[in-house]
Amino acid sequence: CGIVGYAGGRSALDVVLTGLKRLEYRGYDSAGVAVLADGGLAAAKKAGKLANLDKELADRPLPAGTTGIGHTRWATHGAPTDTNAHPHLDNAGRVAVVHNGIIENFAALRAELAKRGHTLASETDTEVVGHLLAENFSSCGDLAEAMRQVCRRLEGAFTLVAVHADAPDVVVGARRNSPLVVGIGEDEAFLASDVAAFISYTREAVELGQDQVVELRRDGVTVTGFDGAPGEVRTYHVDWDASAAEKGGYDYFMLKEIAEQPKAVADTLLGRVDESGVLSLDEVRIEDSVLREATKVVIVACGTAFHAGMIAKYAIEHWTRIPCEVELASEFRYRDPILDPRTLVVAISQSGETMDTLMAVRHAREQGAKVLAVCNTNGSTIPRESDAVLYTHAGPEVAVASTKAFLTQLVACYLLALYLGQVRGTQWGDEIRAVVRELAAIGTQVEQVLGTMEPVRELARSLAEKNTVLFLGRHVGYPVALEGALKLKELAYMHAEGFAAGELKHGPIALIEEGVPVVVVVPSPRGRSVLHDKIVSNIQEIRARGALTIVIAEDGDETVVPYADHLVRIPRTPTLLQPMVSTVPLQVFACELATARGNEVDQPRNLAKSVTVE
Ligand code: G6P
Repeated sequence: CGIVGYAGGRSALDVVLTGLKRLEYRGYDSAGVAVLADGGLAAAKKAGKLANLDKELADRPLPAGTTGIGHTRWATHGAPTDTNAHPHLDNAGRVAVVHNGIIENFAALRAELAKRGHTLASETDTEVVGHLLAENFSSCGDLAEAMRQVCRRLEGAFTLVAVHADAPDVVVGARRNSPLVVGIGEDEAFLASDVAAFISYTREAVELGQDQVVELRRDGVTVTGFDGAPGEVRTYHVDWDASAAEKGGYDYFMLKEIAEQPKAVADTLLGRVDESGVLSLDEVRIEDSVLREATKVVIVACGTAFHAGMIAKYAIEHWTRIPCEVELASEFRYRDPILDPRTLVVAISQSGETMDTLMAVRHAREQGAKVLAVCNTNGSTIPRESDAVLYTHAGPEVAVASTKAFLTQLVACYLLALYLGQVRGTQWGDEIRAVVRELAAIGTQVEQVLGTMEPVRELARSLAEKNTVLFLGRHVGYPVALEGALKLKELAYMHAEGFAAGELKHGPIALIEEGVPVVVVVPSPRGRSVLHDKIVSNIQEIRARGALTIVIAEDGDETVVPYADHLVRIPRTPTLLQPMVSTVPLQVFACELATARGNEVDQPRNLAKSVTVE
């Protein structure tokens, strides 16, 4: 969910709605706002996208006020209806609260409130907070104190933001596990789940820590712990501006972000290696001696980031000879994994907020392992709770389906692999320099691929009526196949599956029938040519059974030509780097298929970009 709060001199409604627009990627089931005006509180909320709320506000305008809050929701408890939308009010309509996360003990609190005569209108866990806040405020008269008292009673993960008609000019926020950042302007202050919400007003931000409450007034902010102890306020400067979070002439954020990949890759490489081939990953605050002693690397991640991890495993093991496991973050801690101080856990997350990944990080640290985050969001929870962080510099990624973040995750993991090799003495200056040079060339190669995508788009349009698309790959091409299939599920809502090509004969080949499109990612004929030849046989096998073959192969690979119904060319790259170019046509393919099927590219149904619940 996305949350915004404002206290200052502008129209709170304008600021909050602008912020919500920027946060809509976080959830778009329903949206709502509340403003303090004329000694009272006015609220509006609507199921569906923000446009529905805009319309509601045009039909029934709210009175003007300069203090307000807003919310865009990704439903957990209760269907996405008008009633379940946030904000939630108390019975007297004096308190409004918005929430991100899950309050686990809400049923008990609800029963308790009902006993005391409260009537609860929605099915959400959030509503109890409004009622509790109203009770506590009436006894202590201080909204921040009331919030602290309420937070001490809540279990689960939550970000809460609230206003009270009897505390004009004040917004309070609380944070446990879910993200919340403060923006400091001149004579105004902001609260939001992500800096994108207030970046057009200020680039000065404050990170809120775990279990902290913030009181926001136009002349400043006060941070305290849930226990009331003063909290430390650390401000930072956001190093990108509003234009980075806008579509800039593209129809969709996803198209813009696909096009930004060459720059994202270059930015992530910038300044990491000197002329003598020595890598310096300054932010990696784990002692070299610890990295030298590591006996195992375990990568944890979700979704697209997990696929980046699967690919990184090949590079890490190849360059360092340290065993590397890759695990879905959501499975990790529940199977009692074997961890010790010599295990290096790498948590990959674009947002730095994914709850499954965060829980895996906490578990790993509790078991004594060292955790390094690969993350795209400065100051987010996962890097904060890790021992070290290697930032990707993709810039803000807004489209729900991840593209440029994925490529930069690969770059970061490869740098990490080389760095591990460097400190352990398995990789030397010349080799490191060579790989870094190859990585630096990737941007141009991606550019090249992007320049030849029209036939891929045309092909995608011609497949709009199909029910299934299968993807095959081998070695590093296998996770690419999985990623191609994930993109298609997310965006085109089609049945799509990725397989390791070698497994085809062990089951999946039964799915092949006349006309089923199968995308095959072909490894380079140079290097591991055995694999190349095997996959060419696979293409023949499926084609003989009626599949429509869509072959992604290197420039100059002529052996695939006779078996490809559609051939997509990618530039020659070293084997380990091929995923950085072969993924690109799959992104374009999914995006175009989604458009052809009339789907919302940036905001696919049922998904949210940052999943802050487990
Ligand atoms: C969500 C998104 C995916 C993303 C995954 C992990 O499920 O829809 O696109 O890959 O989260 O996100 P993270 O921010 O941890 O990389």
